[in-house]
Amino acid sequence: MGEGGLAGLTYHVRTFGCQMNLHDSERVAGVLDSCGMLEAPTPEEADVVVFMTCCVREKADTHLQGQASAMVSAPVPPSGLRTVCVGGCIAQREGDAMRSFIPNVDVVFGTQAIASLPRLIEESRSEAGSSLKADTAEPGTAFSSDLPDHRESPFHAWVPIMTGCNNFCSYCIVPYVRGRERSRAMEDVVAEVKALVADGVREVCLLGQNVNSYGRDRYGEPRFAELLRAVAATGVERIRFTSSHPKDLTDETIAAMAELPAVMPQLHLAVQSGSTDVLRRMNRKYTRKDYLDLVRRIRAAMPDIALSTDIIVGFPNETEEDFLETLSLVREAAFSSAFTFIYSKREGTPAAAVDDPTPRDEIQGRFDRLVALVQEQSWDYNRRQVGRTVDVLVEGPSKKDPGVLTGHSPENVTVLFEAPEGADSADLVGKVVPVEVLDGRPWYLRGTCAGDPR
Ligand code: SAM
Ligand code: SF4
Ligand code: F3S
Repeated sequence: MGEGGLAGLTYHVRTFGCQMNLHDSERVAGVLDSCGMLEAPTPEEADVVVFMTCCVREKADTHLQGQASAMVSAPVPPSGLRTVCVGGCIAQREGDAMRSFIPNVDVVFGTQAIASLPRLIEESRSEAGSSLKADTAEPGTAFSSDLPDHRESPFHAWVPIMTGCNNFCSYCIVPYVRGRERSRAMEDVVAEVKALVADGVREVCLLGQNVNSYGRDRYGEPRFAELLRAVAATGVERIRFTSSHPKDLTDETIAAMAELPAVMPQLHLAVQSGSTDVLRRMNRKYTRKDYLDLVRRIRAAMPDIALSTDIIVGFPNETEEDFLETLSLVREAAFSSAFTFIYSKREGTPAAAVDDPTPRDEIQGRFDRLVALVQEQSWDYNRRQVGRTVDVLVEGPSKKDPGVLTGHSPENVTVLFEAPEGADSADLVGKVVPVEVLDGRPWYLRGTCAGDPR
C-alpha cells in the first residue's frame, strides 16, 4: 500500500459495537498508519474521521447518526477538509444508500473492505467529497488480521478465528451484515498467536460470533477444542474467547478448557431467555433444560468458573410466565454477571414481522426486575471473592482515580488496587500482579497488592 496523498493527514477512529469491531478498528488504524497518517486525539481535530458502526440494536443506529451529524458543525480540521467515513455493520447494511441515513458521509466501507479505505479516502478528497465513495461488496473470505496492526494494548490482543454467523436467531441482524461462517486456517491463527507472544502479548481473546463451531466450514467438523490446545501450545499465558453458542459447546471443549491452565476460568454463554417456548421462537435450538444441563457439566469440570451471559427481555409476545422462567434460570445458573437488553426490532429479521401488543412499560418493568436480580447476584459473587488472591493483568490507571490501577482477574472481573508504595505505576502496566481482594463492589473488586509483579 503506497502512502499516496494521505501522508501527514490525521485520523480518528471511533468504535461502536462488539469486540469484532474493536479488532477491525485496530486494523483500520494500522492501514491508515501505513499510509503515513497520524492519529488525532479527538474526531474534531482529525482530517479523517472513521466511525466503526454497529446495528445490533436501534440505539446504536441513533447514536451513530448523532455523532456523525455533529461533524457538520465541528471546527474545520488542519487540512481544511474533513472526510467522514463509515465502516462496520451499518455500512454493510446501508451500502450506497448511506447518504439517506447520514447526509454528511463521504466514504462507506463494508465489513470486508478495510483494505480499500485509503483509496476511497483519496478519491473522496480529490473531489472534495462531492459524491459518495463506497465499497460494500458482499461479505467474502477476507480476514482483517492480514492487514497492518495498530493494537490498543501491547500485552492484550484480539484474534479473530472466524467471521460471520449461520445461526439466524430470529431477532438478530448479524448474519445479514457479517455473512456466513468462515473459519481461518488453524495454522494461520496459531502463527498469529506465536508472533503476538514474541511481541510481548500475554493475553489473547479468540473472536467469532460462535467460536464453538470453529472449523465446521473449513474442515467439515468443529475443531474448537483442538484449536484451544494448539493456541495453548504457543505458550501464551492467558486465553479467553467469545462468543459461545450453547448448542455447539461440546464436552470435548469443556474438557480442553478444564485441562489447559492458560484458558481462563471464565465463560460467556448467552442464554437469551429462560423459557423454552421463547427460545424456540428465537430459533436458539436448545431448551431451558439443555442449557441448565450444560451449565451442570461445565461446573462439574470447572467448579470455580465464572459464567456470564446475555439476556433479551421483551421478545415479541414474551409472557409474564416466560419472564419468570428467565428470572429462575438466572438464579439456577448462578451467573456472576450478565448483559441485559430490551428486545429491539431489526427490520429484515423474522421476529420483526411479529406483532406484539405487550405495553412498553410492562417490558421496562420486567427489564428493571432482571437488572436488579443480576446486580444482586453479581454483587454476591464479588463479595464471595473477598480474602482470595487473584492474578491481575494490569491495564493502567483507573479513569476516575489515576492513583489506582485497574485490570482483570482470571475470572474477567475488573479489579482496582493501589500501586504498592514506592512503585512506579507505569512500570506495572502489562505485569501480572497478585492482588488480595478486600472488598466486593457490585461491578468490581477492590484489593491490595499481595506479591511481586511478574
Ligand atoms: N453471537 C453472539 C451470541 O450469540 O452469543 C452475540 C451476538 S450479539 C452481537 C450480542 C447480543 O446482543 C446477543 O447475545 C443478544 O443478547 C443481543 N441482541 C442481538 N440482537 C438483538 C435485538 N434485536 N434486540 C436486543 N438484543 C439483541
Ligand atoms: Fe446473532 Fe444468534 Fe448469530 Fe449470535 S448466534 S450473532 S445472536 S444470529
Ligand atoms: Fe454490532 Fe456488528 Fe458486532 S451489528 S454487535 S458490530 S457484529
